[in-house]
Amino acid sequence: MKTIREFTKNITRDDEYLLRFVLKMSSSDFLLQPEFKISPTKIKQFSTLRKLRARGIPMQYIVGEAWFFGLKFKVNKNVLIPRPESELIVERALAIAEEHQTCSIIDVGTGSGAIAIALANNVNCPVSAIDISTKALAVARANARALKARVKFSKADARKLSKLPKTPHIIITANLPYLSDRRMSRLSAEVKKEPKLALYGGPDGLDLYRIMLRNLFANKNQTVHALLEIDPEQKTKLATFVRRELPKSELIFYPDLHGDIRLAEITF
Ligand SMILES: C[S@@+](CC[C@H](N)C(=O)[O-])C[C@H]1O[C@@H](n2cnc3c(N)ncnc32)[C@H](O)[C@@H]1O
Repeated sequence: MKTIREFTKNITRDDEYLLRFVLKMSSSDFLLQPEFKISPTKIKQFSTLRKLRARGIPMQYIVGEAWFFGLKFKVNKNVLIPRPESELIVERALAIAEEHQTCSIIDVGTGSGAIAIALANNVNCPVSAIDISTKALAVARANARALKARVKFSKADARKLSKLPKTPHIIITANLPYLSDRRMSRLSAEVKKEPKLALYGGPDGLDLYRIMLRNLFANKNQTVHALLEIDPEQKTKLATFVRRELPKSELIFYPDLHGDIRLAEITF
């Protein structure tokens, strides 16, 4: 039987991650036990996973987990892998919730539940979340249970969102599918393994946001803070739409860690 030291002489970081996953070892255990003998069964398991990786299956789907906002989420092929740039939505929502304590949060297109759960674990106001996919909601509910987060999940369509909780402030967090035809035609092999329902947002990517915002703009009972994750290329189009449809609303764009515009905050 080969030891960890012998086996890992010429392997990539991805391979090392997979091997640690198969051996159920933390990175420190792995480093501290170079003479640990790897059984043939484990090597076989490792080779199977390595083949999946070579076929472009994202690492997070292979190991069944992804990290977001310091929390570990279960993921599978029915949900988008939560992205670090979406933490920006969580940070802004937390700041708004801090400022307006009488608020409710609705996470629209919740997927794995990452945004809703990260929020529920950090705010006092009620958090609910919707998704159109039953399979995604099953993952989100499992994550909320595992992370002891209080989130009310329901199956609903973002295009029909109009009935809102009665609190004076409503925070809508939405990372809905926003990829345009152009972006869809340039997807990497890995992103292509994620659900199309989680990615495609119509020809210019803004279809769902436009319909959702039109419905919300009709609401005059409360102050709505809509936080939408977007593609940097959509900034001008979204701004034109918002200024035309609801000129009195306030619109702010925020860049992600790469300096690209990633978040639109619309208050009305
Ligand atoms: C880009 S993924 C984001 C998932 C999650 N919010 C995150 O940031 O990781 C978009 C999600 O929106 C859901 N979705 C797509 N169309 C929808 C619709 N019309 N109404 C509600 N959810 C929708 C998809 O099922 C998917 O889970």
